[in-house]
Formats: sequence, structure tokens, C-alpha cells
Amino acid sequence: MGYRKHLKNPIITEESDQRKGLPLPPIQKPYTEDAKLVDLVSPDDFTVGNIPLLKAITNRISHRKYTDESLTLEEFSYLLWTTQGVKELAREGRITLRTVPSGGAMHPFETYLVVNRVEGIESGLYRYLAIEHKLLFLKSLDPKEMPEKMGKINNGQTFIGKGSVVFIWSVRPYRTEWRYGEDSFKDILMSVGHICQNLYLACEGINAGTCAIVAYQQKLLDDFIGVDGNDEISLYVAPVGKIKKE
Ligand SMILES: Cc1cc2nc3c(=O)[nH]c(=O)nc-3n(C[C@H](O)[C@H](O)[C@H](O)COP(=O)(O)O)c2cc1C
Repeated sequence: MGYRKHLKNPIITEESDQRKGLPLPPIQKPYTEDAKLVDLVSPDDFTVGNIPLLKAITNRISHRKYTDESLTLEEFSYLLWTTQGVKELAREGRITLRTVPSGGAMHPFETYLVVNRVEGIESGLYRYLAIEHKLLFLKSLDPKEMPEKMGKINNGQTFIGKGSVVFIWSVRPYRTEWRYGEDSFKDILMSVGHICQNLYLACEGINAGTCAIVAYQQKLLDDFIGVDGNDEISLYVAPVGKIKKE
């Protein structure tokens, strides 16, 4: 089982770019000035999600059947906030402190969203701008095509495309490599798990469900969200919808 070497911490021999004094990479993927942004509900105004933590943890299961209901803009904002929300820009704005932990506070992830049904938002592909707590519109998508499309990308798992939204997390690895070099592998994969767990628990607070998905075709998912698969790599998928009772 050759892969087991990846479970171990490597012996760090190289100097990291941080130690060499190279500049810190941007803490968020840049976007153009003419980009179309969508305002979200501020965390200060959330009225949803106030269920006991123990109840959320105890009830959490993976859900793969969703109703046709839309999420409200507040519910969607709450899910984005609980998974990647920026609470503070620290060290002169050079690092972010968020609602989830991340090794070295590097937070190397970007969140892409397939929006099928969210009140007040056009269907399409978006990216969450965590620092601004806004959405960046990327392209229109037809929700009717999403089950087939998501099925193709995710090894036949068509249920993913039936979610009201689909979260797709990518990593821009250099953000972590800058600090940890070859040691970044475990750091990145452990950190992304925290994000998805927060999504599971947050869903419990709005009678919604999610399912962590790692069975996807790398190239197809990279192409779908428009990343090159090297400087930015898709990593994890999670559809969200209101729970359909059996
Ligand atoms: C890293 C990871 C990858 C997963 N990938 C898939 C997947 O591709 N498809 C799927 O239906 N469930 C997937 N799951 C969900 C698991 O099947 C599920 O967590 C497990 O069966 C336990 O059920 P529970 O979450 O309801 O407790 C994944 C879960 C994790 C943590």
C-alpha cells in the first residue's frame, strides 16, 4: 500500500517560500472590476440556524434526496458564512480568521456554487467572495440540465444536481505551500474536511441536508468550475437541499 506514505508527516528538508522571504500569495482569488456581484444577508441579521449544537451533531446524517423547494437568500448566506465566513482580517490584512480552522490560517480554498434554486438569485455558477461576503457571478446554468451534468462529473450520482445548490470547493495549493512546502498535503486535506462538517451541521439548523462527495472525475470537475487542475484543483463536492422524507 504505497499510498500510506501520504498519511505520514514528511520530513521537511526544503526551505519554505515564507522562510525565503517570498511574498504571501493573495488570500482570495482575484476577480475583475467589472464583475457582477450579488449581495448576501449579513451574519449580523441571521434569524435562522438557532438550534442546539448537540441536536445538530446527533441528528447529522448524509442526505441524498431533496425537495424542489428553494433556499431563501438568508439560508444560503448562512450556509456560506458557516463554511467559509471571514470573521477577521488579521496581521494587517494578510491573513483571514474564519468560521472554520485551517492550518497556519492559510485558508487555501475557494467555494464555487451551482445555484439551482435560491430565492432572488439567477440560476448559475458563482464563487463566494468570503472577504466581501458576496457572490461573484460566473455563468448562467440551466437547473434542468444539472442532474445529468452532475451525474456525468460525479460517477453517475445524478442526485447531486437535484440539490437547491451544490457546493464545490477547490484549493489553490500555493497558499499553503508558501508556508509549509511539501508538508501541505495533509494540511490541505484535513482542513477541507472542517468546511464540509460545518456545512453538515449548519444544514441541520435549516431543515436541509447535504452529502459529502469525493467520487468525481477530476478533469471534468476542474473544467466545469473553470480551473486549470494545477494552480487550482477541485477537491470536494456537497449538494444541499431541503430534506425529502421517504
Ligand atoms: C470524504 C467523504 C467522501 C464521501 N463521498 C461520497 C460520495 O461520493 N457519494 C456518496 O453518496 N456519499 C459519500 N460520502 C458520504 C458517506 O457515504 C457517509 O458519510 C457514510 O455512509 C456515513 O453515513 P452518514 O454520513 O449518514 O453518517 C462521503 C463522505 C466523506 C466523509
